Amino acid sequence: MKHPIILDTDPGIDDAVAMIVLHHFRKTNIRLIVAGYGNIKAEQTVKNALLMCDLLSMDTPVLKGAVVPQYGSYEDAAHIHGADGLGGMSLGTSKKQPLASSDFLKTLYDTIIEAGTVDYITLGPLTNLALLLKRYPDVRSHIARVVTMGGGIACGNVTPHAEFNIHCDAESADEVFASGLPIALVPLDTTNHVTFSMEQIESLSSVKTPLACLMQKILEENYKNCTRYGEEGSTMHDSTAVLYYLFPEYFKTEQCGITVDSQKYYGKTIVTKERNHVTLIKGAESQTLCDLILSCITSEGR
Ligand code: BDR
Ligand code: CA
Repeated sequence: MKHPIILDTDPGIDDAVAMIVLHHFRKTNIRLIVAGYGNIKAEQTVKNALLMCDLLSMDTPVLKGAVVPQYGSYEDAAHIHGADGLGGMSLGTSKKQPLASSDFLKTLYDTIIEAGTVDYITLGPLTNLALLLKRYPDVRSHIARVVTMGGGIACGNVTPHAEFNIHCDAESADEVFASGLPIALVPLDTTNHVTFSMEQIESLSSVKTPLACLMQKILEENYKNCTRYGEEGSTMHDSTAVLYYLFPEYFKTEQCGITVDSQKYYGKTIVTKERNHVTLIKGAESQTLCDLILSCITSEGR
């Protein structure tokens, strides 16, 4: 069943691409975008979300989420996403404003209650969702399922053990996994292989839409940064999670429990046998996903 979607994100280049993919397949279904801290400060992720909405002629409201983790501090990922989170090329700002709210958790809660039942997709730190579940425990019965890009079972990208979204706020991530909500976790072990080559990125130049031109420039920048840090190409972590949400048949999965270490290996996601409410994504047909993502970029924003 197609529920309204809450998209909790921190754009971010691969978040921006994920917005294109989700919009392409579920235009009328996205109820709210929550843009919090993560790849860069929340002030900027909100601007980037609004800018992407402009490019996609999308009128989904954007709500500013958490500006810091629940516990401790965090380091951004501007070295991968650029100083502005979208390749560092001063793209200008949207004339639209985020939702006026003095209490983002209440606004998020009210939106979910009004929608009845939602699917909740997270592409950034799990801070917003952990705070929501803590303040409004009854919201649990209004979330059909969660799809999360995050974690790494046999690898990390911030440390050898930890992935960025989980490492930003490991305690919040652990709270979300402990909540018992049905969660599909799309980890680095799968997303690391969904990468655009420079040839694929350059192929966008044959498409003359403003969106394709812009994404070509942004993805070229991302390719340089990702490969500098040892990745295979421009890595589409967040679109992979969105594609799992849309087309689970393209993915291999396993049921398990997950806990998150907040001690020695801060942010490490650990598979447990104690519960099996987590659908762990174990692999996908990477090039099929890349082709699908490219086709979304080339057919949107006309
Ligand atoms: C995740 O971290 C962020 O930098 C990306 O947007 C993605 O959500 C990958 O580790
Ligand atoms: Ca992200």
